[in-house]
Amino acid sequence: VKGVIPFYEPGLDRLVLKNVEEKRLSFTTSLAEGMKDADVVFIAVQTPMSESGEADLKYVMKVGEEIGELLDDYKVIVTKSTVPVGTNAELKKVIGAKLKNGVAFDMASNPEFLREGSSIEDFMRPDRVVIGVDSERAEELMREIYRPLYLSDTPMVRTGIETAELVKYASNSFLAVKISFINEIAKLAEAVGADVFDVAKAMGLDKRIGSKFLHPGLGFGGSCLPKDTNAIVHIAQEAGSDMSIVRSAIQVNRDIPQRAVAKAERLVGDLAGRKVALLGLAFKPNTDDIRSAASLELVKLLEARGCKLAVHDPAAMENFKLLHPDLNYCQSPYEACEGADLTILVTEWNQYRQLDFNWLSGAMAGKAFLDCRNVYDRPHLEKFGFKYDCFGRADHSSPA
Ligand code: UGA
Repeated sequence: VKGVIPFYEPGLDRLVLKNVEEKRLSFTTSLAEGMKDADVVFIAVQTPMSESGEADLKYVMKVGEEIGELLDDYKVIVTKSTVPVGTNAELKKVIGAKLKNGVAFDMASNPEFLREGSSIEDFMRPDRVVIGVDSERAEELMREIYRPLYLSDTPMVRTGIETAELVKYASNSFLAVKISFINEIAKLAEAVGADVFDVAKAMGLDKRIGSKFLHPGLGFGGSCLPKDTNAIVHIAQEAGSDMSIVRSAIQVNRDIPQRAVAKAERLVGDLAGRKVALLGLAFKPNTDDIRSAASLELVKLLEARGCKLAVHDPAAMENFKLLHPDLNYCQSPYEACEGADLTILVTEWNQYRQLDFNWLSGAMAGKAFLDCRNVYDRPHLEKFGFKYDCFGRADHSSPA
């Protein structure tokens, strides 16, 4: 083990190395070796979105077959991967069909609620742990695994397996709906001369609503919310039901990059031949993940309008280069903004929250700033002579 983590997650490298050194953690590419002496086997392989929007289960089923072939004493097989309702039941059959000696095993669904960028904190201090099981023996083993969390009074929700599977999709879909809701309010706020921030703040103070996930901007990206909202729509369809609220949330989210480009056009006019600086490529701060990031769609739309793009991201540029090798990748936000007609703040990394507008006002070719994450105040930027726009705050000075 070299202690090298192939993706960016703050603190994970140290945590892994420490546990390897203290012999609590080891790695192997042999499933047989990994399963030897284990009481519980977690399946955490990916379930990517297939062309049609459903979760692709081929990796989960493949590992299920292999587990079935190797199982030689009682174990609990736990799905951590986000899988559609009914997958554990299916997996149980797949494993059962491969068993050589009729050995007993149980399934458990134990969905994860970690956020990229703060997954260690989310793991150590979760809001809840959901354990979906259909046997006492499996429940006991799962509770034993999570026993250290009892000390911090973490609520444990014990459910049936299908219920636990649905909890995961319902939770992520609800978060997505919340984000799309506030993004629609942002659009309405612009139209009626209101301020979405104050609306969100006042709404969030109602404990039944809560203040989290009410930040308007470019909408939800990443490997989870876009995938899981599409998957629940499919799950519902197959069950003869409809998730019309989630379908609307997906549509609202899809339209946002286009709105951002329209705002850019209002700030600088025709975009053809304009130099545009994009600050942030990751789907959110503190990650190098660009899956379903709004930046991808923005780059596509801006390039189609003939913009020359200069981009910066503290962690995600290498990943972005794999898809867009020909962009102008810059070493700092300032290098990206130099000579630009317009700067677009795409991801609210900390280092973009305190930009030197004095310097920028001299170094940019045009003074226009589109703040897609609503980090700055209009009056602050106007002080430096910038034309400014964001999402959900009526533009009373109206540069357009
Ligand atoms: C999400 C969930 O928050 C986790 O609970 C869940 O475990 C995880 O998916 C998963 O299924 O594995 P994550 O994808 O890491 O976590 O990211 P979030 O923090 O949920 O953010 C998702 C997207 O929504 C980002 O693009 C973010 O910029 C956007 N967002 C978030 C907003 O636009 N507004 C907000 O108020 C909050």
